[in-house]
Amino acid sequence: MIRSYKGIYPKLEKSVYVDESAVLVGDITLGEDSSVWPLVAARGDVNYIQIGERTNIQDGSVLHLTRKSANNPEGYPLIIGDDVTVGHKVMLHGCKLGNRILVGMGAIVMDNAIVEDDVIIGGGALVPPNKKLESGYLYVGSPVKQARPLTDSELAFLKISALNYVELKDDYLAESDSAK
Ligand SMILES: CC(C)(COP(=O)(O)OP(=O)(O)OC[C@H]1O[C@@H](n2cnc3c(N)ncnc32)[C@H](O)[C@@H]1OP(=O)(O)O)[C@@H](O)C(=O)NCCC(=O)NCCS
Repeated sequence: MIRSYKGIYPKLEKSVYVDESAVLVGDITLGEDSSVWPLVAARGDVNYIQIGERTNIQDGSVLHLTRKSANNPEGYPLIIGDDVTVGHKVMLHGCKLGNRILVGMGAIVMDNAIVEDDVIIGGGALVPPNKKLESGYLYVGSPVKQARPLTDSELAFLKISALNYVELKDDYLAESDSAK
């Protein structure tokens, strides 16, 4: 389910894993060792989606953008950095995420929100439009509030979580090769 929009196809590095049930449309780039899990919907139509390396987008997540308009000539693309874990059923809309971030299950991140490097967003959180989440903190709630600084083990876990998903997607790639 990898489709073009206005002649532009998603650009996927060779080492990526995209589940067969995910839908990827249009201007999307997916960096080395990243993965997209079952039932993800990502539409790069009215702007673009850029996803870095070793980032995982888990099951049922929805990725979309803000279109360009007279008041907002560039709109808001969706930009996600390296080593980011996007939990199950997350909504990311026209926002910018740095590196080594965990977005908890069911969280919603709205237009022009900026999440700096090394942040955990708790499950079920709502990050409102234009909000900036500061590097090194845990944020929870709806709307999110800064809860506390991340511990050293949580900071280390951000990278470990991403690498766990690189291993997992390699297993899935091997499985689909062996089924051919
Ligand atoms: C927020 C989180 C990181 C835990 O933080 P923590 O500080 O260890 O949480 P604790 O269990 O010590 O709870 C601290 C308080 O926060 C509350 N809390 C925990 N998670 C919360 C959340 N997501 N939103 C709001 N409050 C939350 C707890 O109920 C507790 O409240 P209390 O003090 O009134 O009892 C975790 O609950 C979470 O949401 N992780 C996301 C995991 C995920 O979705 N991974 C992706 C899929 S693999």
